[in-house]
Amino acid sequence: MDQDHLFGDSPAGAQAPTDSSELVQRLAQLREQLQHHAHLYYTLDAPQIPDAEYDRLFKQLQALEEAHPELRTADSPTQRVLGKVLDGFAAVRHAMPMLSIRTETDTEASGALAFDARVRRELGLSETDPAIEYAAELKFDGLAINLRYEHGVLACAATRGDGEVGEDVTQNIRTIGQIPLRLHGAEPVVLEVRGEVYMRRDDFESLNERQRERGDKTFVNPRNAAAGAVRQLDPAIAAQRPLSFFAYGLGEVRGWDVPATHSALLDALQRMGLPVCAERTVAQGAEGPTGLVAFHRAMGARRDQLPFDIDGVVYKVNSRELQQRLGFVTREPRWAVAHKYPAQEQLTQVESIDIQVGRTGKLTPVARLKRVFVGGVTVTNATLHNLFEMRRKRVRVGDTVIVRRAGDVIPEVVGVVPVEGSAARTPYVPNFHMPRQCPVCASAVVREPGEVNHRCTGGLFCAAQRKQALLHFAQRRAVEVEGLGEKLVDQLVDGALVRTLPELYKLGVAKLAALDRMADKSAQNIVAALEKSKHTTLPRFLYGLGIRHVGEATAKDLARHFGQIDRIMDATEEQLLAVNDVGPIVAKSIRTFFDQPHNREVVEQLRSVGITWVEHEPVQVAQSSLPQAGKTFVLTGTLPSLSREEAKAMIEAAGGKVVGSVSKKTHYVVAGDEAGSKLDKARELGVSVIDEDELRALLHAEPRSDHGGA
Ligand code: IVH
Repeated sequence: MDQDHLFGDSPAGAQAPTDSSELVQRLAQLREQLQHHAHLYYTLDAPQIPDAEYDRLFKQLQALEEAHPELRTADSPTQRVLGKVLDGFAAVRHAMPMLSIRTETDTEASGALAFDARVRRELGLSETDPAIEYAAELKFDGLAINLRYEHGVLACAATRGDGEVGEDVTQNIRTIGQIPLRLHGAEPVVLEVRGEVYMRRDDFESLNERQRERGDKTFVNPRNAAAGAVRQLDPAIAAQRPLSFFAYGLGEVRGWDVPATHSALLDALQRMGLPVCAERTVAQGAEGPTGLVAFHRAMGARRDQLPFDIDGVVYKVNSRELQQRLGFVTREPRWAVAHKYPAQEQLTQVESIDIQVGRTGKLTPVARLKRVFVGGVTVTNATLHNLFEMRRKRVRVGDTVIVRRAGDVIPEVVGVVPVEGSAARTPYVPNFHMPRQCPVCASAVVREPGEVNHRCTGGLFCAAQRKQALLHFAQRRAVEVEGLGEKLVDQLVDGALVRTLPELYKLGVAKLAALDRMADKSAQNIVAALEKSKHTTLPRFLYGLGIRHVGEATAKDLARHFGQIDRIMDATEEQLLAVNDVGPIVAKSIRTFFDQPHNREVVEQLRSVGITWVEHEPVQVAQSSLPQAGKTFVLTGTLPSLSREEAKAMIEAAGGKVVGSVSKKTHYVVAGDEAGSKLDKARELGVSVIDEDELRALLHAEPRSDHGGA
């Protein structure tokens, strides 16, 4: 990062430059820095400065531009989110029509073979001629956008429309952080970049989750969500919809030498700061290890792991010269084709609707479906989320519905196909009702005012909640009890062997081995796994307790802030609110949880069966960047609140090493009560002696109250 030599640290740039050329220079420098860091952050996902530093530079630029509006430029990062609410979008005539490509609908290898054969025929090649080189890339499932850069600055962004005339969506597209407002290192007179605006699946899921929580309409799939955001008339709303972009081609170009191949073109666009998908290759012909068929197969296998939806792959003749020779048929290039994959959405029928009871007692309606193959798996169930969501989608038993399954995401009913002839306005008469009693334990079902979810009030009395609580505690991200899966938990709970978490630890080999299909060896493994799980970390333990609204991240924040479970159990809502990212709902939920005597009892019993935890996960990676990397520590005596294990784990988490004896090379001796000869030795050798508080300060750990350790 360049020095702020002109203005020092003042966010508003208090000492305004005297000379206007100096000011112009400073503005340009700030814009360039911000653009550079936005690219690292949004496109490369590799920020180099903290967010706060970015904000500081941003505010500096904003203040200078406010003082000198005449020096504001269209490519300034401050100009991303400043649009007005529109009545409609202006029409934009494309300088070059936006074409579509022919689609090979057969999802087998033959689609690639047919395309290659056609291209060879059109070019008059014989079998003995060498393979054609293709650029193979993904077919993103979003919407096509034309970005028009004039002299390197984003001037207009338009939708495809009918291919001739699209809509001007510039102010919404500007809010996409990945799209550069100014091209890096190039200022061609005109460069139109074409590509796909899309929404990542995780962004889509969390957007829908937010919509659902607010009782707002959810989106059917990422493509619809992206299309809705791009055509949103209020740019403030568009800015909150998390969109992404991949460049894949060109429109009008003036004053720029277009590279000779498509793959080189994509490389060049990438260098200009445009996001280009890394999943692409240059293929030789259709068959063989580097051919189109191999790419189609490889991407098909990776499809679920990609962070976004694709509906196929695209093959393009790589050489521009050959592309020109091939030309177009009607409105489609002869040199490109889309080769599809099986759909991630299918139609099927709802056979019945069941209720599932979750860990927190939430009742989830689940559609039992006529078996359907979608997104690579056979689906027989799909979540309907809650009663309101179900009503909004107008789902009824017997209806034909659209089921979506993409990535590893749980299959979902996204909508109903209206019965032929019946208008959408037909009154919706639901034929499913939420039960008044929990289908598992018969406790009362309630829905709190303002909540969309129905809940069973049975708590841990409810077998369904108990099972989920055990599974949650035992999962890998929590306390991790290897081998404690659904089938075993069903048997343990249904057979009344385990009612509470601590009872898990009282199971012996004999009881376990007596279960259905449980060999002695497996029983021993479970007991060993339970033993192993007793050494855990505070965040994992906290997360494993299954407190509502306390996810992994919150558990880590709580552990870091309080250091000790007793302090969390006794914290007031106000004290909890002081924790990073803990708001009133979370604080209340934690307080409510620990106000229940049986929850405190569970913690006590877990302690008494021998569970211990350290504050942090031992950190192994990036040792050298840690505060105590390479430092050696010796522990002696009894520390006021840390056990030896805890202190050791904390030191190691900070990159330090704990050794047994003091030498000249020892960096610190941590001394507690009744420290013995090691302390004397440290004094003799002049090694720094510190106490627990100083150790914590050194490791940047929060102090804890002085009563006993966990
Ligand atoms: S090339 C002249 N490449 O698929 C060629 N299109 O009909 C123009 N699409 O709506 C298109 N991924 O938005 C191309 N890697 C890709 C693509 C892609 C998705 C979309 C495009 C258009 C349709 C093609």
